[in-house]
Amino acid sequence: MKAIVTGAANGIGRATVLRLAQAKTASFVLVDMAAEPLERLAAELRQNGHQVDTLVGDVSDRTVPEKAVDLARAAMAGVDVIVSNAGTFSSGPLKDTSVEDFDYLFAVNTRTTWLLGKAAHPMLKASRGCIVATASIAGIDPQPPYGSYSASKAALIMLVRQMANEWGPDGIRCNCVSPGPTVTGRTAAFYQNKVATADREAKIPLRRIGASEDIANAIAFLASPEAAYISGANLIVDGALGTTMLPGFASYTV
Ligand SMILES: NC(=O)c1ccc[n+]([C@@H]2O[C@H](COP(=O)([O-])OP(=O)(O)OC[C@H]3O[C@@H](n4cnc5c(N)ncnc54)[C@H](O)[C@@H]3O)[C@@H](O)[C@H]2O)c1
Repeated sequence: MKAIVTGAANGIGRATVLRLAQAKTASFVLVDMAAEPLERLAAELRQNGHQVDTLVGDVSDRTVPEKAVDLARAAMAGVDVIVSNAGTFSSGPLKDTSVEDFDYLFAVNTRTTWLLGKAAHPMLKASRGCIVATASIAGIDPQPPYGSYSASKAALIMLVRQMANEWGPDGIRCNCVSPGPTVTGRTAAFYQNKVATADREAKIPLRRIGASEDIANAIAFLASPEAAYISGANLIVDGALGTTMLPGFASYTV
């Protein structure tokens, strides 16, 4: 398996790389803006016999997704799986969001998946490959502090459905995973707060916060041959949190 993974250095991306690396023959192009943890992960994988190339860059730069695909062509002579996982987050109400922040969020969270798929289309067509993007439950239900983040993830979910529709005849599958609250590099500090964590856990039907590995397992499944007939899907991995939002609102009878 030849994989490109963005946002590979931490959290869900890192867990996904380690999950995909359970296949001894897996080779990787790993992309992240954080050089040091990216190189540490690459070194760990190489020690275990994997071929790994790295690209340090911000995927909001439109040349970075294209460079990642060029690297896959040069180093691996193709690609079977693209995990478009790098995402950026900004909380804050829409009335206070700057145009620059709004555009940056959409560039990272939405546009990158299209740019990766567009550049890799001939190779994905040749390999009958797939794309899995990391969306979010915030892309399904709006939540007060999430501002343009929710909109960028909702757009991503539709983008992936559109790609699945347009590229299905080429044998390319495109899917999303939508995590709920998950302990990752970005959120680990927040979940040190035991009171806030317990409050969140109480609201999740499965009564725990997700782990990066929970999301990685879902991504790996969608990238596997077992998912050969799944395309255009959005696999929600949230401990059933999403089932509680409307019932919570309607907890009284009118
Ligand atoms: N953690 C959660 O609760 C949660 C919930 C829903 C969705 N998500 C989504 O999961 C994905 C991974 O997030 P995470 O929680 O694992 O975060 P994380 O911060 O632990 O890891 C994200 C990695 O992506 C890299 N990255 C961020 N922006 C980048 C950019 N512009 N260019 C290149 N690399 C970039 C970071 O350096 C980091 O290594 C994101 O798309 C995020 O929106 C996370």
